[in-house]
Formats: sequence, structure tokens, C-alpha cells
Amino acid sequence: MWLHNILETIGDTPLIKLNKITKDLPCTVLAKVEYFNPGNSIKDRMALKMLEVAEKEGKIKPGGTIIEGTSGNTGMGLALAACVKGYKCIFTTTDKQSKEKADILKAVGAEVIVCPTNVEPDDPRSYYSVSKRLATEVPNSWYVNQYDNLANRLAHYEQTGPEIWEQTEGKVTHLVVATGTGGTIVGTGKYLKEKNPNIKVWAIDSYGSLLKKYFDTGVEDPKEVYPYISEGFGEDFVPQNYDMQYIDEFTKVTDKDGAVMARRIAKEEGLFCGYSAGSCLQGLMQLKSQLKKDDVVVCIFHDHGSRYVAKIYNDEWMMERGFLDVKTFKDLISGRGSQKTVYTHPDASVSEAIELMKKYDIENIPVIENDNNVGAISENGLFNKILNNPGIKEEQVKNVMEKPYPEVSFDTPVERLSSYINKENGAVLSKDDSGLYHIITKYDIIQSLSK
Ligand SMILES: Cc1ncc(COP(=O)(O)O)c(C=O)c1O
Repeated sequence: MWLHNILETIGDTPLIKLNKITKDLPCTVLAKVEYFNPGNSIKDRMALKMLEVAEKEGKIKPGGTIIEGTSGNTGMGLALAACVKGYKCIFTTTDKQSKEKADILKAVGAEVIVCPTNVEPDDPRSYYSVSKRLATEVPNSWYVNQYDNLANRLAHYEQTGPEIWEQTEGKVTHLVVATGTGGTIVGTGKYLKEKNPNIKVWAIDSYGSLLKKYFDTGVEDPKEVYPYISEGFGEDFVPQNYDMQYIDEFTKVTDKDGAVMARRIAKEEGLFCGYSAGSCLQGLMQLKSQLKKDDVVVCIFHDHGSRYVAKIYNDEWMMERGFLDVKTFKDLISGRGSQKTVYTHPDASVSEAIELMKKYDIENIPVIENDNNVGAISENGLFNKILNNPGIKEEQVKNVMEKPYPEVSFDTPVERLSSYINKENGAVLSKDDSGLYHIITKYDIIQSLSK
């Protein structure tokens, strides 16, 4: 038996138990893993639904153009549907989104226009405004508007909610969703609460979004809005898909905590998910004191990690933002107390340098002159020279020293320090605020990595 086209693979995603990260919680935690959809995200569901409703209502005609402001996932769902049904797509997105997301949309035939992130939604340059304007200019076009298009939440009312109810055999007690347009949480939450009004629905918001404050106070406060790094959830206005009666509680998750948790989900559970999945599970952890033994929690994991390989799954990107707690040069020397770096002077004799090596049981000695790092004496280098010329011991250090050890800053991560150390170069140096040199050798690095 075959399927008639790719759209028939949308939905019926697996519900997968988390076993490691959540082991200290008293309850069962299940992930609705939405990257099993053909466009690798939950948004395939609502994209197709919105298109089907628009077709039924005559808002789009054969050969027409679909226009939308989308950070990628909705665009992917729309683009797949457009391929199968014979429409064109023009999407506007923001420069905050991963470049991969735009490239993927182009790969499936869409035209993508990238707009600035840090402008007001009603600024003519914003991705909302540009998509709205295009919809008035492009003939036979349909502006999707996932924010206010209620077919968005309907898709989740008709599909995501019933799937979760059936997959848990009605045992679900909590739904946890990182929320953006509101379509997922409101549609799924409404269905589940109609089945069992005791089910708790928890929304996860980002710092820099106004949704939580709106939920708590009813005030749509623009002062809550500022740029943030998390992707896919949080909003700078309240879309019409929201109906707050289906949400019980909001919590905010930091950009760092969401990213770190997404990496843990990949490493510990083998689920290579997107940023908002990390934020969703982190949000659940923040609310864990409310959970009891027989609870069955369902977390929605919206999309796949492949869209974030240049971001949260890239160590450099994480380090630059202070999201990875990496050990640095400073951490490695912090346990040494008042112990000073052993060094020698260019005018000292080689035999004096050898005495220092024996006394302190070290292999690498920096040569310092007037507070400057001018050379190095290493056991390896000396060994070869003494074999060739035993008289060298009486020479001055300056005549036999090797090139100085590289100097790095105090906050250089250990991973980067190790790239400086090789056969010719056994150590790296760094100066502290008082101008004193500190040394890290290959043994220090090996020790720190094996801890
Ligand atoms: C990765 C990701 N997470 C979460 C969301 C939020 O889902 P919703 O818009 O249904 O609230 C989206 C929506 O674009 C998303 O792409």
C-alpha cells in the first residue's frame, strides 16, 4: 500500500517516554516528537489545515501564490503543500532565524525575503508588514497570517489533541508547550480540557516576550519586549489564536537554559530536537514541585535539531554567548594558591635551569626578562642538545633557549589551549592583572580533561 503524496504522512507522530533527564521527577514524562512530520515540525499540521480551509473558502485559486511571514517551520509545511497542490510561495522571515531555515525553504521551491528583527511589528520593514504589503501587490495571492488565522489552532484541536488523548489512553494530566502563535497550546489544550477539565495546560514563554505578562495581568505591555535568542516561541503581540481560558500557567525560560536542555535531550535521550523543545522541558523542570506520582505529562517537541546545527549544537556559538560552562586557563590555575610560576632568566646557566627542573619536577620553564616572555627551556629540547654537546650545561640559557611559549588570555577555554600544545611546544602562558605569568602544561590539560 502506498501513500498518494507526502502530505499524507503529516500527523500520527510518536509519543516517547523520557527516561534519563526526568528520572528524578515523581511522574511519567512523555514527549510528542513532532519532527517525525515530513517538514520536520509540528507546523506541517496547521499549514495544511490553513490551506485547506482557504481553498474551501475560495481565498486561494489554482496556481495562486501563498504569502506568509514565517520563521521557517510554517513555511516548510506550506511549501510542501504548495508543491503537491501546485501553488507558489513567498515567505518573509527575520535575520534572527537560522540561515539553514531559509535555505531549506528555498530548496522546496519557496522565495524567501529576510527582514530585520529589531523593528516594531508595525514598522514597514518588519516581516509582518512586508508580507502584508506583498499580499496586496501580488495578484491571485493569499496571505496566510498564522497568528490570527484560526485554522491554526483548529488543526491542533482536530489532530494533536486527539492523538495525545488516544496515545495516553486518556491518562494525560499535564500538557506543556513552548508557545508562539498560540495555535498548538490553545487547540490541543481545548481538546484535552473538553475530555478532562482537570488536565493542566502549562505555557512556556521566552524572556523578551510579552505573553506571560499578558496572561498574568491582561496588559499587552510593549516594555516586556526586547530581542532574545531563543527561536520559535514567545511573541511581541498577542495573536488572535490565543484563548487564555485553556491555559493554566505561564513560565519563562532563559535563552541559556533552553539551549543547554536541548543539548541534553539530544545527548541523553537520543532525541535530536530544536531549541523550543529544550525550553519546553526546562520549563517543566521549573514547575516540577507541582507534579505528583501518577501524573502523566506530555511535552510538545516542536521541531528537529538539524535546523540549529550552526547555533545551539555548535560549541563556539554556545561559548560566545556564555551558554557553555567551559573550563578556562583561569580555572586550571585556580587551585594553585600562592604557588608561583617557576621561570629562569636569559643570563642564567643551563645547569641552573636543570636544577630548577629537578627541584620542582617540571619539564617546561619560561625564560622571562624584564617581565617579558622571551624564550623557553624544555626537557625535550635540552635532552637532544645535551646528547649532541654535553658541554652545553655551562652555556647561558639565552644561547640554547627555544621560542617563547604562546601567550593567551585568562579566559581561553581549555579546548582551545590544547590546540596550542604540541611536540615543539609543551606549554602556554597567561599574565594576570598584576603582571605575573602563569603556566599551563600538557599535563595540566590532560588532568583537567580526565576529571
Ligand atoms: C520550533 C517552534 N517551537 C514552538 C512554536 C510555537 O508554536 P505555536 O505557534 O503553535 O504556538 C513554533 C511556531 O512557529 C516553532 O516553530
